[in-house]
Amino acid sequence: MDLSLEGKVAIVTGAASGFGRAVATTLATEGVRVAGADINEAGVTSAMKELGGGAGSCRGYALDVASRDNWQELVRSVEEDLGPVDILCNIAGPAPGPVSGHLDTDDDEWHRQIEGHLSGVFRGCQTVLPGMMERRYGKIVNMCSFTAHGTVANIPGYDAAFGGILAYTKDLARYVAPYNINVNCVSPGNVETPMTQGWMSSPAPASASSRTPSSGASANPTTSPTGWSSSPPTARSTPSVSRSTCPAAS
Ligand SMILES: NC(=O)c1ccc[n+]([C@@H]2O[C@H](COP(=O)([O-])OP(=O)(O)OC[C@H]3O[C@@H](n4cnc5c(N)ncnc54)[C@H](O)[C@@H]3O)[C@@H](O)[C@H]2O)c1
Repeated sequence: MDLSLEGKVAIVTGAASGFGRAVATTLATEGVRVAGADINEAGVTSAMKELGGGAGSCRGYALDVASRDNWQELVRSVEEDLGPVDILCNIAGPAPGPVSGHLDTDDDEWHRQIEGHLSGVFRGCQTVLPGMMERRYGKIVNMCSFTAHGTVANIPGYDAAFGGILAYTKDLARYVAPYNINVNCVSPGNVETPMTQGWMSSPAPASASSRTPSSGASANPTTSPTGWSSSPPTARSTPSVSRSTCPAAS
């Protein structure tokens, strides 16, 4: 596949694991200089090394997407190390906590979901946009979810955060279109990653025979909210991508 992205610089959040790691790998295959950013610094450093880190042009950076200071520091460092940011993939985000239903979600869980998803996307976009607008070039892809489209019940913080990302993405896309900047979001259904592995691999109860992941709505994580993994992610990444060697930095 040639996406004509050779030599571009991309920040990919959540690149230590799952979707983020798969996207980072695919972009590296395309010759993109990838800045993987994750709250799991050791994990993202190791993942980027596998893609050609060290002296290569894929590097890992520590980032808590909820922190504006972290974002500013990240963009400064990436611009110094790899060059101006052309692409931002906002993929990082927390799983629903063990207690995350309508009546038991507390303020901490609500705040964690909104900050970890919606505010992280907002702060990331706001940090890279001035440079992209000045250069009149940019691609932004925000991770959304099937849960933003009314397909599940009983994970209000998680759903509301993705509903916000959907609306924010549409608003931003209109605002920056005149600057030749594309903003999109993607809403995958259930995919087995370290986040979902616990409940997706557990046997479905007999009464839940309609739990077909492809339909999105019926593969309902809320049937076993504690099955969502909130533990530090492992290196395993189920989305299938080929491993690549990242081109060396020029
Ligand atoms: N797996 C699915 O079925 C599915 C479906 C739709 C949407 N999503 C969303 O896709 C995104 C990626 O999920 P995944 O399945 O790859 O999970 P994952 O757990 O494999 O990866 C999530 C990554 O985000 C990082 N992260 C979490 N909070 C962070 C923070 N505050 N700052 C920086 N990094 C942080 C984690 O360390 C981890 O590396 C999440 O937002 C998730 O909600 C997942």
